[in-house]
Amino acid sequence: MLREFCNSKIEEMKIFSGTSNQPLAENIAKNLGLQLSGLEVFVFPDGEKRIRILDKVLDENVIVVQSTSSPTDENYMQLFFIIDALKRSGTKSITAVIPYFGYQRQDHVFRFGEAVSVKVIAKILESLGINKLIAVDLHSTKIEEAFNIPVIHLSALSIFAKFIKDRFEKKSATLVSPDMGGVRRIKILSEMLNNMPYAVIEKNRDLATGFVSAEKITGKIGKKAIVVDDMISSGGTIETATKLLKKNRIEEIYVFATHPVFSNQAPKILQESEVEKIYVTDTIFVPKEKRFPKLEILSVAELIAESIKSA
Ligand code: R5P
Repeated sequence: MLREFCNSKIEEMKIFSGTSNQPLAENIAKNLGLQLSGLEVFVFPDGEKRIRILDKVLDENVIVVQSTSSPTDENYMQLFFIIDALKRSGTKSITAVIPYFGYQRQDHVFRFGEAVSVKVIAKILESLGINKLIAVDLHSTKIEEAFNIPVIHLSALSIFAKFIKDRFEKKSATLVSPDMGGVRRIKILSEMLNNMPYAVIEKNRDLATGFVSAEKITGKIGKKAIVVDDMISSGGTIETATKLLKKNRIEEIYVFATHPVFSNQAPKILQESEVEKIYVTDTIFVPKEKRFPKLEILSVAELIAESIKSA
């Protein structure tokens, strides 16, 4: 099955999009020289959805794009129904492109009695019959391990590296990981940037309240700090890191984070923080009301399209 998919021509593929991030799906399709295929999402008065494939997909290799960001459960259910509808319509193979993979943070049992959400999602997707998963900046390698099918794990770090190279390299900047969990990420980015120096903040999060605190930085930081993270959710991590960096007399702080989850008051917190600029990607669609002047969005469409082309 995988060989057949590998040998298929891009122009013979079909690409479908769920409703969570249609602009990105359209951009991926454009980069592939394709147009989005037809899909009907009918909403019943009680909120239940009926999914119907409007194009012929019999014996075709198909791509489905759906970010499973908030509302996570709803976006997952929609994806599940799209995959089921495609399967019933006789597709040859299905590649699920999940640019932001919801529930990825619960990748193991942190405290006795918890569910491992990632494993549950992996089981459902595999049992529905997807052949391959493409995702961007997964929280940990445990997510890939939860699957038995091929997982293409892309990273926005190459996009960030190019951007930083163009704008920052000559200005003495230091990469900063806002927590110990991001050390691997920051080391990879540092290598991409001719060993740009890096430092790490020791962050603590209270598992019960979600409260974030940080007091220690390991490594020397120059006048400019480039904080890199996989996602911004409540904004607490960036807010705490910024306060600590300012306390340490860092003059300019820039933030690069792949996934703009932006829950609750995050946009307000980020705009009012002492950060100069926040760069995120379009793995999650940011609606107008969540955009703010300090925010700039870089696209992962080409990165995803290239990985589809070279599969
Ligand atoms: C944590 O391990 C992640 O890498 C992010 O730092 C975290 O999820 C960001 O969340 P928040 O914005 O709520 O602090």
